[in-house]
Amino acid sequence: MMDKKSILFVDDEQMVLDGLRRALRSMRKSVDMAFATGGREALEILAEHPFDIIVCDMRMPGMDGAQLLQKVKKLYPATIRIILTGQADDSATKRAIHVAHQFLMKPCDPENLKIILKRACLLHQLMTHPLLKRTVSGIDHLPSLPDSYVEIQQVLNDPCSSVQDVANVVEKDIAMSSKLLQLVNSAFFGHFNEVKSPAKAVHLLGIETVKSLVLALKVFSDFKGSKISDNFLKSLWNHSVETALFTKEIIKTMGANKRDEENAFVSGLLHDIGKLVLAANIPDLYRKAIDLAKLYQLELRKAEFKVFKASHAEVGGYLLGIWGIPGDVVEAVTFHHRSHQYPGSPFTIAAAVACADRISHELDVERCIGICPVLDEKMFGSTEMVEKIGEWRQLCNGLKEQEHG
Ligand SMILES: [Fe+2]
Ligand SMILES: [Fe+2]
Repeated sequence: MMDKKSILFVDDEQMVLDGLRRALRSMRKSVDMAFATGGREALEILAEHPFDIIVCDMRMPGMDGAQLLQKVKKLYPATIRIILTGQADDSATKRAIHVAHQFLMKPCDPENLKIILKRACLLHQLMTHPLLKRTVSGIDHLPSLPDSYVEIQQVLNDPCSSVQDVANVVEKDIAMSSKLLQLVNSAFFGHFNEVKSPAKAVHLLGIETVKSLVLALKVFSDFKGSKISDNFLKSLWNHSVETALFTKEIIKTMGANKRDEENAFVSGLLHDIGKLVLAANIPDLYRKAIDLAKLYQLELRKAEFKVFKASHAEVGGYLLGIWGIPGDVVEAVTFHHRSHQYPGSPFTIAAAVACADRISHELDVERCIGICPVLDEKMFGSTEMVEKIGEWRQLCNGLKEQEHG
C-alpha cells in the first residue's frame, strides 16, 4: 500500500493552476495537492509541512522557477523537483538544470503528467529510508542525463529524421564516438573491426541500441576520475554490457516484442548504475559496505542494505526515474534483486535482468564482491520460467564464448 503522497504546484497564472486541479482530480484519493501562485507563497506552504513532490513553472515574476527550486533543494532536499518550461534552451532553463530532477515541456498533456506524477510518487515511496532519501536528493553530483542522449531523443521526435541524423549527433562527440566504435567492434558484439562509422553502427544495431550505448558510455565515462577506482569501473562496465546482451537474448526466448527487447537491453546496461552513484558520492560508507560483504560473505546488496537501508537497485531506479527514462526500465532496475516481489505479469524485464545478472556472475565468479547472487527457482513465480533456466544458461554461455573469441 502506498502512503498518500503530497504534491505542491506553483504557477503565477491562477488559470493554469485551476486547469491542473481539474485535470488531476482523479488522483485526489492517492495524492494531497496544494497550489501556490508564486515562489514566496510556495515557501510559506512548505514551511508548514514539507511536500513529497513540487511541480513549478519556470517563468514567474519575482522569484522564478529555478530560484525557487534552488531554495527547495537547500531547505527540503528530499522533495522531488519537477519544472515546467516552455523553452528547452533559454538561459533560465539552463540554470534550472542543476536544481530540477525533471523537466516537462509546456503545454503538458494531462495524461502524460499523471503518469509522470504517479511514477514520481512510486519512486518516492521506494526511497523509504529517510536517510537514503535525503542522501540521494541532496547529492550534488547526481549525474545528469547526458546532452548527447537528449539530442538523439530530440532527433527521434522529428518524424522526418533519418539514421544519418542520429549518427551525426554521435559523431559530434569525437571521444564518445570512438568509444562506441571500439565497443561495437569488440568481441562483445562480434563485429570485429567491420564497423567504421556511427552510421554503420546504427544500421547494424538499430537506433535504440546505439542510443542506450551512448547513454551508458557517457554516464560511465563521467565517473572516471571520481572516487571510484578504475578497476571497479572497468569490471562493472564489462558486467553491465554482458548483462545487457544476456537480458536481450533471454527476453527474446519469451516472445517479447521489439520495444521490450530494447528496454531489456538498456535495463541490463544500467542495472547497477546505483553502485556508481553511491561509490562516487558516499565513498567512505560504500567502502564500509564492500568490507562488510567481504568479511561476512554477504551479497553486496545485502551489505548495502545494512549501511544505507537501501541498495544500489533502488538508488539506480531513482536516478533513472528522475531522468525520465521509460517506466519499464526504471522498474526493471529497481527490482532486479527482488524480481519475485515485482507486481505484474509472470515474466517481466526485471526478471530477465535478474537472470542475466546472475548468469553473468556465474560465468565470472571472481568479479563478485562478497558472494554472488544465485539463480534459483525461488526467483520466479511460474514453472515455465524455471524450465527455461537451462536454455538461458546455454545461450549466455554461447555469447560469453564468442566474447572470448
Ligand atoms: Fe545489482
Ligand atoms: Fe549486476
